[in-house]
Amino acid sequence: MAESDPNAEHRRRPRYRGTHPRRFEQKYKELAPDKYPELVEHVRARGMTPAGQHVPILVDEVLAVLAPKPGERGVDCTLGFGGHARAFLERIAPDGALLGLDVDPDELAKTEARLRALGHGPTALFVERTNFAGLGAALGKVGWHDGVDFVLADLGVSSMQIDDPWRGFGFKVDGPLDMRMNPTKGVSAADWLARTSAEELERVLVENSDEPHAQRIALALDDRRPTLATTLDLADAVRGALPSRLEPDDVQQSLRRVFQALRIEVNDEFRVLEALLRQLPSCVRAGGRVAFLTFHSGEDRRVKHALAAGLRDGVWAHVCAEVGRASSEERRANPRAAPAKLRWARRA
Ligand SMILES: C[S@@+](CC[C@H](N)C(=O)[O-])C[C@H]1O[C@@H](n2cnc3c(N)ncnc32)[C@H](O)[C@@H]1O
Repeated sequence: MAESDPNAEHRRRPRYRGTHPRRFEQKYKELAPDKYPELVEHVRARGMTPAGQHVPILVDEVLAVLAPKPGERGVDCTLGFGGHARAFLERIAPDGALLGLDVDPDELAKTEARLRALGHGPTALFVERTNFAGLGAALGKVGWHDGVDFVLADLGVSSMQIDDPWRGFGFKVDGPLDMRMNPTKGVSAADWLARTSAEELERVLVENSDEPHAQRIALALDDRRPTLATTLDLADAVRGALPSRLEPDDVQQSLRRVFQALRIEVNDEFRVLEALLRQLPSCVRAGGRVAFLTFHSGEDRRVKHALAAGLRDGVWAHVCAEVGRASSEERRANPRAAPAKLRWARRA
């Protein structure tokens, strides 16, 4: 038997009540998939996303519309956990190359390490920590001035970000009210709330997520906004602001919309999406393909209108007539796929 390393730090598993870990940081087995592959499979089989991972959505459908081929160049604007990127890299090998972008410094480093460990070297995979609003500049940086053959933008946040309470995206467990995809830039949701006005909060709730109780929530939160430091502070304040006659499901929906609206604001998601849509035609070669996965109406509307305008102007030769949706099987296996809409276009 091998002797244990006397210098190795003895680590106890995280303590938790009961037989199963509930909190993200207690799920030490899910967070170490290489060591506990069966447990991770078991979590997936129950239709859940293992802690610290993201299950890629509509992969076959994205591959069908982007049709990456050996030797092609592509961009994954939202690298995330690298699920789509991995599929692209397999299709474009041996001579193709993929540029992966993401704003999240922590997850990007982990994902790059995972993809490199699969054998994707520096000529096959380029990784840039940048906002996709700077797609043109990122292409210039890797010398792809004549554009690429395919582009994917799988919008919003990843499961790793939502599930980690320290990132402050969710309202089920407590954590700092942050919500920045890049925590080193911009202002946190708590700071934004502290500085904003009731009118501005109402506008954000309406414009970003069509919250029907926007005015009521904005007014009720007015003198409490500067004290809302954690996700549960905000969730409790919103619950208290909603009409008492609401069913629990309606309360959950309002909470989801309030959190979504703030996340969109803090990360300036609509403005950066519009910037990407504006520069996309000049980043894609003739015959190149683009695809978007959107998760709510504000995103989907912007993508739909930009692609339709490009079709009228002759920028795109073909734009999808219908959105692609996850099959019932995929929704069962990964409920987070349910709201996803796939839109695509082919460059003239
Ligand atoms: C839905 S996940 C992508 C998942 C990925 N397709 C996969 O297979 O794992 C979205 C990712 O995009 C990143 N992101 C969101 N907005 C971005 C932006 N404007 N620029 C660059 N990355 C962005 C997030 O940090 C997150 O990692």
